[in-house]
Amino acid sequence: MTVYLSAKDVHKSYRRKQVLKGVTLDLYNGEILALLGPNGSGKTTFIKILATLLIKDAGKVEIMGYDLDKNPNAIRHLFGYVGQDSERSAYARLSVRENLHFFGSLHGLDKKTINAQLDKLVHYFDFAESIDKRFEHLSGGQKQTMVIMRALLYNPPVVYLDEPTKGLDPLVAKKIRAYLKRYVKDEQKSLLLTSHILPEVDEMSDRVALIADGVIPIVSTATKLKESVSIRSFIEVPTNLVSPELKDEIMANSMILACREREAGWLSFGVNDLLDGTEMMIALMRKHQIQPTIRNYNVSLEDAFVHHVGALAQRFDT
Ligand SMILES: Nc1ncnc2c1ncn2[C@@H]1O[C@H](COP(=O)(O)OP(=O)(O)OP(=O)(O)O)[C@@H](O)[C@H]1O
Ligand SMILES: [Mg+2]
Repeated sequence: MTVYLSAKDVHKSYRRKQVLKGVTLDLYNGEILALLGPNGSGKTTFIKILATLLIKDAGKVEIMGYDLDKNPNAIRHLFGYVGQDSERSAYARLSVRENLHFFGSLHGLDKKTINAQLDKLVHYFDFAESIDKRFEHLSGGQKQTMVIMRALLYNPPVVYLDEPTKGLDPLVAKKIRAYLKRYVKDEQKSLLLTSHILPEVDEMSDRVALIADGVIPIVSTATKLKESVSIRSFIEVPTNLVSPELKDEIMANSMILACREREAGWLSFGVNDLLDGTEMMIALMRKHQIQPTIRNYNVSLEDAFVHHVGALAQRFDT
């Protein structure tokens, strides 16, 4: 594995507000890394610095061996970027085709190469009907798709996507995810993405970096993050079936690690061993002459995010 991107101790403040206080992150070829963090934690700021749209205050960034400060022009040909605001990422009055030709030529591609790339992308993304429409006449999702095509047009080795599937319908989002995965894996590219859609992050990413309070304290895999939440699963029972006596008896069992109302109308009991926990729960409900009604829920990346970001917030508050 080769490090395609290396960021060390990156700092950035807006006026008095310190947003990045020493962000360090490596991105390898052939990997998808998701940057997760609460709103306002600095994800977009960091990606804009990598994309040469913002100047950092301190730190060092290298992309494929080129230094961001010394070689910004060389670096601009090494990445594709999709910002959080796709509305302003293309010329409104030009058609999709004209826009893509324009951006392709900026990257030194000749007409023939651009046309070949366009054929491939337009076919994959089913964009033939919209290719000659003006950008301003596209729907929000179509604009976002076009901006993603623009980012991939010149086959960049590194791709930054800031909430790429925001506002896309599930089928288009799925197509884009599949395309990106293949792009990274087959061609050994690197992808850094941010997304608040955690099932998407879970499905796509090889590694996950958590950003909080201006630093990246945790880089791990989605699986390991989920495992590090001490509870694996929840057994859920309709709240109205659980009398105070039954609840006391359930909670007295050492298998039960937590109890909360994750969703209105359902009590969730956290366990590690779902099978034994379920057997115990059914036996207790039968004992209380209640027809057992239960459902299961496995800890998700969202639970892990809440768990870790909550724990980090507490650590920083103290
Ligand atoms: N141009 C700016 N001037 C002043 N403050 C800014 C500017 N851009 C961002 N900020 C502030 O910097 C912080 C980080 O913003 P950023 O957009 O990087 O967060 P984010 O992690 O991308 O959030 P989100 O998940 O909402 O997209 C926020 O507090 C924001 O208000
Ligand atoms: Mg953002």
